[in-house]
Amino acid sequence: MRITVMGTGYVGLVTGATFAAAGHDVACLDILPERVAALNAGECPIFEPGLPELLKAGLASEKLRGSGEMASEITEADLTFICVGTPSRNDGSIDLAQVESAAAAIGDALASGERKHVVVVKSTVLPRTTEDLVLPRVLERSGRDRASVGFAMNPEFLREGSAVADALQPDRIVIGAADGLARARLRLLYAGAECPVLECDPRTAEMVKYASNAFLAAKVSYTNEVANLCEAWGIDFATVAEGMGLDDRISPRFLRAGAGFGGSCFPKDVKALRTAAAAEKLPVAMLDATLVVNESQPLLLVAWARDALGSLKGKRIALLGLAFKPDTDDVREARAAVVARALLDADASVVGCDPQAAANFTALCDIKIAASAEAALDGADCAILMTEWPEYAALPPAVFAERMARPLVLDGRRALDAKALRNAGVEYRAIGLGGNK
Ligand SMILES: NC(=O)c1ccc[n+]([C@@H]2O[C@H](COP(=O)([O-])OP(=O)(O)OC[C@H]3O[C@@H](n4cnc5c(N)ncnc54)[C@H](O)[C@@H]3O)[C@@H](O)[C@H]2O)c1
Repeated sequence: MRITVMGTGYVGLVTGATFAAAGHDVACLDILPERVAALNAGECPIFEPGLPELLKAGLASEKLRGSGEMASEITEADLTFICVGTPSRNDGSIDLAQVESAAAAIGDALASGERKHVVVVKSTVLPRTTEDLVLPRVLERSGRDRASVGFAMNPEFLREGSAVADALQPDRIVIGAADGLARARLRLLYAGAECPVLECDPRTAEMVKYASNAFLAAKVSYTNEVANLCEAWGIDFATVAEGMGLDDRISPRFLRAGAGFGGSCFPKDVKALRTAAAAEKLPVAMLDATLVVNESQPLLLVAWARDALGSLKGKRIALLGLAFKPDTDDVREARAAVVARALLDADASVVGCDPQAAANFTALCDIKIAASAEAALDGADCAILMTEWPEYAALPPAVFAERMARPLVLDGRRALDAKALRNAGVEYRAIGLGGNK
């Protein structure tokens, strides 16, 4: 099939490259010409394992290209995937400006030509957005009749850090088609899928995505709240999680205590769902609690630093890891930023390091960046592990014991070896590790 993908961010690039790998003819479009040019030059603008190789293979096979010819690409395509951003506004509500502009551009393109076309929303949007915003906007701008344009919502479940594997082997595909044309084309597109395919209407597909993300976020916040109780009561939460995870209704995944969730999806999606529901006076107690716990959880680490060091003024604090999780350079809503801001407010001297995300992080937060974990730890009064990059877990305990002015390590991800560090003379404290004090 001939496919256009609007938006060359995480989702657009992975979607485009995956469809090209499956043999479709794919044009990736973006309003930022530099992104399109970079794609055509074989450059991957984001750090995502496996993506540069997949993009290069797509370009080499001539199945994938970046294109600035938005109108002609869309007019000649069978399907257009909307993969643009849906960020939060300051009040937490969803900002649909990119979706609106994409729908308008598709409508304008479809005004010429008569070929049947299907518009698929892959961006995460609130229930009814595909039917109440995208569909009317495209029809209005194109002047087409309903029979010649199909509409569907097809949520994306990839996780940054394993996005390519997730897209090549998804655990489920949800097709929320508004009509027979969209259903037929998406069935054909996903005909070879080895995973379950759920067919429903667009608003149900939209809700599947929000309900999934909000559930996972709530699981993280619940885990963290229970881990904090465990710590206060001298219980190691890791063993509790193991016991809980043996129940297959609970599952052991997402039961790791830590500094909370960040990233481009969970925080903004929970906020968007919460804000939309609250605006209709619907109950949002679970969503509220999920966000409240997630805001306070990283600050626990700052409180621990204060417990140990007293005033933080002038103290050198090393932040190990700045990305919201390992294997990505994405710092959106990273918990490291919450911790860094609180430390800066307390006049601490904050020095961070990250294998991929340092440059992105300094745009968010004005901290010093060290070239390596060792350099960050040199002379530090405290180290806080914020991202569980494997290289930090592999640091020999002597690095902490010998380089730091005070070998105090606060583990915000339960990723370091407590026993080995303590044996090396390091003061070690971790979330949910009973007997910390
Ligand atoms: N990042 C993830 O892990 C992930 C996972 C699942 C779903 N999602 C959802 O997918 C959507 C995209 O997320 P992302 O992280 O890829 O976003 P992103 O911000 O990384 O990329 C969005 C891209 O869209 C481009 N764009 C904006 N308006 C455009 C227009 N009118 N025409 C063409 N291009 C346009 C931007 O320039 C940008 O390059 C969001 O709704 C997000 O919630 C993201």
